[in-house]
Amino acid sequence: MPRTVYYTAVTLDGFIADPNDSLEWLLRQTEEQPDDGFFEGVGAIVMGSTTYEWLLRNLDGPWPYTVPTWVMTHRNSALPENGEDGKKPDIRFAQGPVADHYVEMCTATGDHDLWVMGGGDLAGQFADEGFLDEIITYTAPVVLGKGRPLLPRRLDLELIEAGYSGPFVIARHRVIGPLLEDG
Ligand SMILES: NC(=O)c1ccc[n+]([C@@H]2O[C@H](COP(=O)([O-])OP(=O)(O)OC[C@H]3O[C@@H](n4cnc5c(N)ncnc54)[C@H](OP(=O)(O)O)[C@@H]3O)[C@@H](O)[C@H]2O)c1
Repeated sequence: MPRTVYYTAVTLDGFIADPNDSLEWLLRQTEEQPDDGFFEGVGAIVMGSTTYEWLLRNLDGPWPYTVPTWVMTHRNSALPENGEDGKKPDIRFAQGPVADHYVEMCTATGDHDLWVMGGGDLAGQFADEGFLDEIITYTAPVVLGKGRPLLPRRLDLELIEAGYSGPFVIARHRVIGPLLEDG
């Protein structure tokens, strides 16, 4: 069974982008991609349309992902012309409940991980269905005060790994389920 993992960078105060969808706070931290083996284990990706459009605007070359990628959207978005391998990128637009697409996404991973790239509410939609297995965060040493939230839900988590890389604190959490609260 593939794992469904929300893997993202985040500020110390819990934002994945500033209020204008800028990631300048992240891009100034490091030019390097993390070398943690996560990307090699990814078999499919899912993201929301704001994230997709940010990627399209900031692409510095061809589409970087070779695995099937779902974009959840109600919009008619553009498609990048080609991927790093010279082939047409496998980008699939979908809408509606994530449960309607989850089996197809998992099948497409070929038993690898499904990477929920973001945003936060999309990760929440997977959590609402009990599909989200893990959250891996790279916390940057910056606070923004406001912005796009990491995961606007109330969930109970278990810390299963922690460390750091350069300026980032890395944490891997297992999603236990909805936060059980008194009253
Ligand atoms: N720090 C990081 O590493 C990191 C990672 C990922 C993203 N980001 C950034 O964080 C911000 C996230 O933006 P965001 O919170 O607006 O989230 P988003 O998930 O990227 O986009 C949200 C939009 O996706 C569409 N959508 C979501 N679920 C859908 C569904 N089930 N069916 C159909 N459409 C659906 C809706 O737009 P429409 O219906 O209008 O299409 C919704 O408004 C972006 O700026 C992104 O670049 C940062």
